[in-house]
Amino acid sequence: MRTISVKSIIWQKNKMQLLDQRKIPQRKIFITCTNLESVIECIKKMVVRGAPAIAIAGMYGLVLELQSYHTKKYRKKESYNYFLERVQELLESRPTAVNLQLAIIEFLKIVNKEFYELFSLKEIIQRAEIFANEYFQSDLNHNLQIGEYGSKLFSLKKKSLNILTHCNTGALATAGHGTALGIIRSLRDRGFQITVYADETRPYQQGSRLTAWEMQEEKIPCYIIAEGMAAWLMSTKKIDAVIVGADRIASNGDTANKIGTYGLAILAKEFSVPFYVAATKTSFDMKIESGKQIPIEMRAEEEMTQNSFLKDEKGIPYLPKGVLSPLKARALNPSFDVTPVKYISAIVTEKGIINPIHSKNILKILK
Ligand code: MRU
Repeated sequence: MRTISVKSIIWQKNKMQLLDQRKIPQRKIFITCTNLESVIECIKKMVVRGAPAIAIAGMYGLVLELQSYHTKKYRKKESYNYFLERVQELLESRPTAVNLQLAIIEFLKIVNKEFYELFSLKEIIQRAEIFANEYFQSDLNHNLQIGEYGSKLFSLKKKSLNILTHCNTGALATAGHGTALGIIRSLRDRGFQITVYADETRPYQQGSRLTAWEMQEEKIPCYIIAEGMAAWLMSTKKIDAVIVGADRIASNGDTANKIGTYGLAILAKEFSVPFYVAATKTSFDMKIESGKQIPIEMRAEEEMTQNSFLKDEKGIPYLPKGVLSPLKARALNPSFDVTPVKYISAIVTEKGIINPIHSKNILKILK
């Protein structure tokens, strides 16, 4: 197995280091979180992003919260409700991806009210930390399995592949390896010559900054394209597949992912290019019937008009205030869209490939 070169989350017993993904590729600096507040802030401000990475960081945030009770006046009986209030704050940090919500549900099965009231704080913290560590490790293992299954979608007869991807679904967005980018890494490991076309992914530039950086680190050839170039690309170059990640997959297969994914899926159908979604079981929301029930996060207008989150080393925005929007035009900034299942060729999970995609088959493969 290849070693994972990029690490965005480092747990150090009573603190967590988060790679500041807003600064990549200019700078590789870590922000240290010692409490849940700082973790929530890092999630909201996109220091850590990508559905699986958000859930992992959130789990360690809960460990930090419990650890902080050591230093506060800790009253066993009353504090489980207090703890649940803090969990709720974490849950609300980013609404579209379901991974954090599902991880919290699992966490609360382990650190439940009964356990909380019966055991010492030391034991509660130990239990929580074991859960978070296992959650972290299992995400990495599942990504590697997705890579294995995903590689099987491509015939070994064709040695060189052109793959179009959107946003960043790599080691930065996960425990390592990645989902859609994990398949690309695994294909390269199997000897395929891959050329990646990375949608720049406006407005946060996860493609042109993060995916392009990860591919550069891996020495996998990568061209950045603006979203508006995808139709031209598909009509002029042979694109073998579009592979994207997911933030929430409804029980019918409708998939929420980074804004722009839906348009890409429609184009893929027009040009008969297979459109694959890669995601772990932790991205499936089997409680909802369709993508219509997925909440779409609306982010600040300034991210669109000013690129205000992208600053140079002196804190000066790359694009001076007003350059993109001299008329003070309003902007819309939905962070995700939902691709209807009819546009998706297959969903690659750690349990296998889901095709055809419908709720019965999803349940069968994921069980
Ligand atoms: O807003 P982001 O950067 O958190 O959005 C990330 C995505 O949309 C990814 O495609 C998704 O979370 C899957 S990451 C394995």
